[in-house]
Amino acid sequence: MSEAPAITALADETAYAEAVRLALDASAAYYGDGTSTLDDDAYDRLVRGIAAYEEAHPDQVSAISPTGKVAGGAVVGDVPHTVPMLSLDNVFGAGQLADWAASLERRLGRPVEVWSVEPKLDGLAVSARYRRGRLAQLVTRGDGLAGEDVSHAIGTIAGLPGELAEPLTVEVRGEVMMTTEQFEAACAKRAAHDGTTFANPRSAAAGTLRAQDRPYVCEMTFFAYGVLPPPAEESEFASTLRGLPHSEAMRWVAAQGVQTTAATPVAGVVAATLDEVVVRVEHIAGARAGLAFAIDGIVVRCDLPADQAQAGFSSRAPRWAVAYKLPATEKITKLLAVEWNTGRTGVIAPRAVLEPVELDGSLVTYATLHNVADIARRGLMLGDSVVVYKAGDVIPRVEAPVVHLRTGEERPIEIPEVCPSCGDAIDASQERWRCVRGRECRAIASIGYAVGRDTLDIAGLAESRIKQMLDTGLIADFGDLFYLTKEQLLGLERMGEVSTANLLAAIEEAKSKPLSRVLCALGVRGTGRSMSRRMAQYFGTMDALRAADAEAIQEVEGLGPEKAPVVVAELAELGPLIDKLVRAGVNMTEPGITPRPERAAEADAERESGTETEVEAEEAAPPLAGKSVVVTGAMSGPLATYSRNEMNELVERAGGRASSSVSARTDFLVAGEKAGSKRTKAESLGVRILTPEEFAGLLADLL
Ligand code: IVH
Repeated sequence: MSEAPAITALADETAYAEAVRLALDASAAYYGDGTSTLDDDAYDRLVRGIAAYEEAHPDQVSAISPTGKVAGGAVVGDVPHTVPMLSLDNVFGAGQLADWAASLERRLGRPVEVWSVEPKLDGLAVSARYRRGRLAQLVTRGDGLAGEDVSHAIGTIAGLPGELAEPLTVEVRGEVMMTTEQFEAACAKRAAHDGTTFANPRSAAAGTLRAQDRPYVCEMTFFAYGVLPPPAEESEFASTLRGLPHSEAMRWVAAQGVQTTAATPVAGVVAATLDEVVVRVEHIAGARAGLAFAIDGIVVRCDLPADQAQAGFSSRAPRWAVAYKLPATEKITKLLAVEWNTGRTGVIAPRAVLEPVELDGSLVTYATLHNVADIARRGLMLGDSVVVYKAGDVIPRVEAPVVHLRTGEERPIEIPEVCPSCGDAIDASQERWRCVRGRECRAIASIGYAVGRDTLDIAGLAESRIKQMLDTGLIADFGDLFYLTKEQLLGLERMGEVSTANLLAAIEEAKSKPLSRVLCALGVRGTGRSMSRRMAQYFGTMDALRAADAEAIQEVEGLGPEKAPVVVAELAELGPLIDKLVRAGVNMTEPGITPRPERAAEADAERESGTETEVEAEEAAPPLAGKSVVVTGAMSGPLATYSRNEMNELVERAGGRASSSVSARTDFLVAGEKAGSKRTKAESLGVRILTPEEFAGLLADLL
């Protein structure tokens, strides 16, 4: 999977001294208030560079060097830990995991009997001390030997109860973090309070855990990954607990009412062989983007106390456990520029141009910035070092500037005063700015979209041709295309007999496209190709759709209370264009679908006449009813000519739902040649994989 990060090469003693200082600052910030001056990868590279330099120049090793020290030498807190809170060594990729396991087994002189595999939670380590069953003290990891008392946070951490099921004295160790939902709630509270937000869930949790005098409370979450009896205690309870395999100890913790990962999609499991470990590692990696909380790796360890005792510890970390690091989803890079684009519907959206960074396996150069208010809220400036996030299939986003890395060279981001596309005024009355001309602003782009291969498929209408038709006043929108005459077209420069005939034929053919394509061509704000298909499948005709109110429209999967009124308003705004299409004879029905109101009337009649069950039995379920399908790779066989959009249309005609990303909820992956990561993910999740030929066989009636 991922490769080890490269190292930062250090040329001389000055570079070495600077690197040590930089690493110390970074770890002090990280272990202090959770802010970051370096992202995890950059920090790892730097410390590797320092270690390499020290190996080559043992006489120059600095006393304050972070190498080999817990928490990179950052010292915080004064509550001694009963047993040191150690760190873990990292491996990158299955190869390094196998090397680590082999060296561990060599040390043991035998195979590890049972492995345990669980997610590495990306939060802050804390020790929760229960006395006679009551949560008495909460201590951060600090430098591993002593931490800071953060007991004031007791009562604000979900999963960490004030009382155990039994009145026992134990120390539970685990990670405090914020789920995505808690993070958003925390950002909203902080924004309401002082207009700022947190950079990411980890630093939000770090800041929140230590904050004592905030006028607002933010909830956090705890997951346990260890439990210790009091160190000197010799009771039967203590020795039983010490003798439990890790997996059983975690079950015991859960039974006491403390949260573990057991109830999550990435629960800790045991594995008998390293192959099984790797399968679980891949499963957790595949599930990462869909989790409600952040993970940055997978912890692999010996499950049995006997194996652990025999393996022992190095100065920094146990030898019986390792962190299998996953590729970073967050990195710091430079914000080079902000581009402003007016979209098809007139929305003016800023986009960040970044110094390229590799994130979760792909090179990221652009990231979304949402809108002007968002830029202001985050206080972004050009030239800023910014935290960028990307995981799975999400569009990369800029999270926050790293304010303490500012050099003074940063400049304000210029906010456009007129529409960047047409120069007309901007309607800034809502958070999403729009050109006052709305979709007219982007006539060329929106007509181009309407006639594209995936919509009305009118060949012969290149952008230059559309512009020419707009400039000469032949058309103002794509509805006018259907009224063009041969004479009008022949009157255009560079338009001959043959191209005119071809264009008119293509326009004529477009009149019989299904409703889903017409809807898509209209560019209804908030909907795209797949939503257009779903609306067409649900309503069957344009009339039924136009007659629907926001409540009725919410029956379409994926159209919630926010989007539905927008769709209603958009359809009303598009009314004249739709009427123009109807007058021209453009088809407004979805083949094979009974229009909504008639279906409702039929159902009533059936209920009255008692024929309901018969009718239901007659109507065979479509072959993919209720199934979620993802298509990837190059299609072949009977589907060889199908574009991705046509494949998605086919899935939906067969009653299924087309999706672009594989998850545990995916029923089938149709994988053609060159299917890449989606295939791997489907394999790790046990999703059924079909070749294009097998899939075509399933849908033979529809082809
Ligand atoms: S086991 C002696 N299990 O990762 C080792 N640690 O780099 C005890 N972490 O300080 C750690 N999830 O904050 C362990 N499932 C997990 C973990 C986990 C997150 C953190 C923990 C630790 C750091 C080690």
